[in-house]
Amino acid sequence: MEKLGKTKWWSVDNDVNNLIEDDSIVEAAQLLQQNEVVAFPTETVYGLGGNAYSDEAIKKIFAAKGRPTDNPLIIHIYSQEQLNEIVASVPKVAKQLIETFWPGPLTLILPKGKQVSERATAGLKTVAVRMPNHPVALAILERANIPIAAPSANRSGKPSPTTAKHVIADLNDKIAGVVDGGRTGIGVESTVVQIDGENVTILRPGGITREQIETIIGKCHVHESVLTDIHSPQSPGMKYTHYAPLAPLYVVYGNEHQLHEWIAKERAKGHRVGILTTTENVNAYKADRVLACGSRSELSTVAEQLYATLRQFDRENVDVIISESFPKEGIGVAIMNRLEKAATKMIV
Ligand code: TXA
Ligand code: MG
Repeated sequence: MEKLGKTKWWSVDNDVNNLIEDDSIVEAAQLLQQNEVVAFPTETVYGLGGNAYSDEAIKKIFAAKGRPTDNPLIIHIYSQEQLNEIVASVPKVAKQLIETFWPGPLTLILPKGKQVSERATAGLKTVAVRMPNHPVALAILERANIPIAAPSANRSGKPSPTTAKHVIADLNDKIAGVVDGGRTGIGVESTVVQIDGENVTILRPGGITREQIETIIGKCHVHESVLTDIHSPQSPGMKYTHYAPLAPLYVVYGNEHQLHEWIAKERAKGHRVGILTTTENVNAYKADRVLACGSRSELSTVAEQLYATLRQFDRENVDVIISESFPKEGIGVAIMNRLEKAATKMIV
């Protein structure tokens, strides 16, 4: 274990047997039981965990992130018993989704159980819950044996962290510790779905695609705020700026030709221009900094690297970032949702 100021850092090997006996996991779980906040990897992004039953722990999460208190948190669990503890009921369609996608990047909004801190759900009668598919997250949850509220472990408004270093860049000295389990796999957050009787509606696109959900339950709705980016109070997190790098981000819907025009326009103003592209086009642009974010032929690689690439631009001293856009299908829906929310301007 290392110590960076007030924040502890544990490196763990994801592949060791019996992770729940590992010293780092034991210590991290103890801190969580003492209502401290600790960051850890999940299969999507790093989360900042705190005891879901403790107002004190939840207050610490909101304070460390600088998160508005009306934006509720996702509760992470490792077992069916824990699910029954934190929700009032599980509709049939939710059971089907759980059977297929848990552990995994799918968050369900269900009627709230009594014990969960009102602060964690921002006073709502519903609670967001998921079982993460990451050995470190599951070991911490099992060892602590309490449901853990965990938003992404970034300062509010910034891109989510996909490495422990990103967590420290945002939260050093503000949290008790971070468990380093390497780079996260999926790279964008879980899909958040609302369950209303037998109706399922995607509030936030993410690691599980609409297509995957529809193979299990037939029709799945998509909330209008996802389709049109009109801000709505349905999922309170939707009304804030998110995932934003320091420089303004322009997302171009169109061909390379339009992108070149915008580069020329910005450079004529004396601006240093950064380009967010993929390996296929990395040599196609004349700009001050060109970063490849995965490969267009495999959109999951774009998702994996999206937040790290946005964070990289913060270190490149550019005045504006111009990004290509991606097809809104499969994981591309989540990628474009994050880019649109991070964008200052959409160029059609
Ligand atoms: O992949 C993930 O989901 C990551 C990892 C750490 O698990 N967590 C994450 O949490 O992305 P956060 O707090 O950054 O995003 C939670 C989202 C927000 O958009 C929030 O508004 C929504 O879930 N949410 C939480 N509770 C809700 C509720 N009761 N009703 C509607 N939306 C809710
Ligand atoms: Mg977040």
